[in-house]
This record gives sequence, C-alpha cells and structure tokens, in this order.
Amino acid sequence: MKVLHVAAEVFPLVKTGGLADVVAALPAALAAQGADVRLLLPGFPAVLESVQGARTVIEIGACFGALHVRLLLARMPGTQLPVYVIDAPYLFRRGGSPYQDGRGEEWPDNLQRFALLGWLAAHLAGGDADPDWAPDIVHAHDWHAAMACAYVAEHPPTPAATVFTVHNLAYQGLFPMHDWPSLGLATRLMSPAGLEYHGQLSFMKAGLKFADQVTTVSPNYAREIATYEFGCGLDGVIRGRGEAVTGVLNGIDDAVWNPATDPALAELYDAERPAGKQTCRRALQAELGLDRDDSALLLTVVSRLTSQKGLDLVLAALPALVQSGVQLTVQGEGEPALQAAFQMAMSSHPGRVHVHLGYDEARAHRLIAGADAIAVPSRFEPCGLTQLYGLRYGTLPIVRRVGGLADTVTDASPKALAEGTATGFTFDAATPVAFEKAVLRAAEMRADAAAWRGMMRTAMARQSSWAGPAKAYLDLYRKALKARQER
Ligand code: ADP
Ligand code: GLC
Repeated sequence: MKVLHVAAEVFPLVKTGGLADVVAALPAALAAQGADVRLLLPGFPAVLESVQGARTVIEIGACFGALHVRLLLARMPGTQLPVYVIDAPYLFRRGGSPYQDGRGEEWPDNLQRFALLGWLAAHLAGGDADPDWAPDIVHAHDWHAAMACAYVAEHPPTPAATVFTVHNLAYQGLFPMHDWPSLGLATRLMSPAGLEYHGQLSFMKAGLKFADQVTTVSPNYAREIATYEFGCGLDGVIRGRGEAVTGVLNGIDDAVWNPATDPALAELYDAERPAGKQTCRRALQAELGLDRDDSALLLTVVSRLTSQKGLDLVLAALPALVQSGVQLTVQGEGEPALQAAFQMAMSSHPGRVHVHLGYDEARAHRLIAGADAIAVPSRFEPCGLTQLYGLRYGTLPIVRRVGGLADTVTDASPKALAEGTATGFTFDAATPVAFEKAVLRAAEMRADAAAWRGMMRTAMARQSSWAGPAKAYLDLYRKALKARQER
C-alpha cells in the first residue's frame, strides 16, 4: 500500500510540537510493516538544507501567488524515507516559525502557503505530479494539510482515499471568506456544508468533512471533541461524521527516547539497572543550581507555554509546593505572561525552582531523565507525548485526567497499587488545589522507596512503541480504501 503523509512539520527538521515527532516516527513504523511511505513537506529553509539527494520531479511554475514552484523528491536525512518537498521560495523560504513571523503574528499568506500543500498532495494522488508514484492513501495532519482532503475529493477521477488526523482541534486555520477565489474550488463549497465556518473559511473543516476517515491522537480525545466542551465549535461537524471519527493513540520513538541508550544522559539506566537515574538526578540539580536535596520530589515541566497546558495551575500552587519541599524545573517557551510569571517564580525560590525559557532537545532529555515526576496539568490534551517520555524514563506523570493523558496514565489509587498497574497521579478539577493535592500524593508516595520503585517499574514496562498504532492505521487505510471503492 502506497501512503503519502502530508504535514507542515517533521522532527528534527522543523518542530513546534508533538506533531513533528509523530510525522517523523509514524511513517518509519508503517514502512517497517511493509507500506510504501512518502512524505510531502513545504520547502522551509531547514527542510531544503537537510534533505538528501534532491532532484526535481516537476516544474509547476506560478501558482498560489508564487511565481516559481517546483516539486522535489529527496530522502529524509539519515533514512531511506522518500520526501517530496515543495520548493516555492516566495511562500516558504523565510525565517520565523512555519506559521508565524518573528513577532508571533500569523503569516498573512498562510492561506496560499497551506492551500498549496494540500493542492500538491491532490495532484500526487491524481498521478499528474509524479508519473512514477501515486499514493493509495493521502494521510493529512492538522489544518495545515487538511485542504488535501478537499482537493482530492474535488479532483476526480482519483482512486486515492484520504485520512485526516486532528492533532489539535484548537488550531483551525481560519481565513477571511473573501480569500475564497485563491483556492480554486467550486463555489458550492462556500457554504456551511463545505468549508464555511461562521462567515470564515476553515481549513480544519476541509479535513473533517471531506476525509474518508478522520482520526485523532487518542481514543478519549476522539470522544471529547464530539462534545460542546472540547469541540471548539466543530463538535456538530464531528458528530455528523459518526463512526468515521476514531482515535489512535500516539506512540513514541523509542530509539530517540530510551534511557538505556540516550546520549544526553549523565548515566544510562533502565528498569533492571535503575541506579543511573539517581546520577542523572544529581547531575541535573547541579546543572540547574538546585539544592542537592535527595528527599525533595523533583518535578519537571517541558512544554509550550500556552493556556492549553494549564501551567497557571502550577504557578498558583507553587508557593505551597515549595513550602512542602518540592523542587521544580520548567523548560518552555510561549505566551509572554506565562514566561514572565515563571521567571519571577525562579527568582522568588532560589535553589528550589529553575526555569529555562527556550527550546532545547538535549536539555529536555536531561530534565525528563533527572526528575522524579513530570507535570502535565493540561486543560485539554489530544494525546500528549511528554507523559509518555516520562513513563519510559521512570519519571512518573502527574496529569489532569483529560484527552490522551487519561488514556495513558493509571492513577495510584489503592486498587491500582494493589494490582500493580499504577503509573502516575491524576486529578480532575482544573484548580491549583487539585493539582497541589496530586503533587503532594506523589511526594508522599516517593517517601516509600519500595512503592515508588514498583510504580517506576510498571511505568517503564508500558508499551508505547509505534508498532501497535502503525498496525491500527494500516487497518484504517484498508477500511478507507474499501469505502472509497464502494462509492
Ligand atoms: P504539543 O504538541 O501540544 O506541544 P506534545 O506533548 O504532544 O504537546 O509534544 C510536545 C513536544 O515538544 C515533545 O516532544 C516535547 O518534548 C517538546 N517540547 C516542548 N517544549 C519544549 C522545549 N521548550 N524544549 C524542548 N522540547 C520541547
Ligand atoms: C498536538 C497535541 C498533543 C499531541 C501532538 C501530537 O500538538 O496538542 O496533545 O500529542 O499534537 O499528536
């Protein structure tokens, strides 16, 4: 089966969040199970500089406001994975993030930039972009790639089926309706039954309405987004797709995230030889200037600093937690108010709180290995990857029971402890008190060394490789193709 993954990010070339991790690991896992997988990416500078053996597949010329567009075929660095790259200098060769300029403003031509991504995916599916390869499945990720589903649907005769994965429903790709003519789509789609969303044009709706199968990154989030509370205004559309919406839990790249082989760590460790974790912990305290305190619960946060992540709860609970002997280390970047508040917290609690504003992969590994626990108190969380990294590193997650966090962490209830299934600490209310209680439960549990070690062992034994999810996606692809053929 030939599968084209369409996305705006891929680790390690371009990454703003977990999407990039998924787009890096899932294609490799599908290929390992026999699928013929390729990627389609926008030609951001980091992509053009990193891919190997690039050659031009087709010169497209002027489209979507760019004078010169061509499609390249290359390989992902260090792998055999073929990657199509859209070289459109006017649209993609610029600094800043994939979506925003250096001041944090959305690029004003995002409509053209990401419509081009979807449009080229549809031409690959139609066989007219690359005569040598056409996918059976176009798998589009998030709103950036969602237009692929509308263009494939409007591009007959295309035998390919489409799968759309929602990584985060809160980012929808909304544009003014007057930009509609740039899309080159039939005007009948300019309605609520098509891409219109309360007077705007929604790329997210292109995926939700036109994909043969819609997935999201955990079964629980798949249920949540069909409700008013988590549906971000699209719950009606999602309910309308009925059983075509399912959840497939993300895996993690267990070659990148493995404490037994991780080059970032002060000492390697695993469930059988856990002693190295203590070395990592001491090294981390020394590196960050935290008190060398063996009895403290050392808590970490590695996160985008946005309201989604619930970090205001951490800030509000912090004075009481520090009072109880907890140490905290935070690494993140994002909203200026949260950045400033965390910086203040660091200066108020020397030796107990450390904050690093910025993005640093190797440092994230050291934090997750050296801490005792990792906090993910999100308001909503489609899947969440850092709690999975925490589990793998024996760094027990303290999470709010929502989305994929609820699907991946088993609370240390008396029953779960007795059954030996507990892997972390969960709480329900999005309040500082509920978070604080969960952290204090963890601190108390840590004081019982044998119980804590038992939980660490259970957490580290949890299967979170991509093999299972890749098989689930292959089953889904077959279902999508069958549905397509029957239409
Ligand atoms: P989201 O995609 O919503 O940001 P995830 O938990 O799925 O949340 O993925 C976040 C990814 O980004 C993880 O791989 C995490 O380690 C990484 N990450 C987030 N912030 C930072 C940071 N400041 N430095 C390094 N890695 C980070
Ligand atoms: C999104 C979500 C996150 C998920 C990631 C990868 O960014 O916010 O929960 O883990 O995508 O699917």
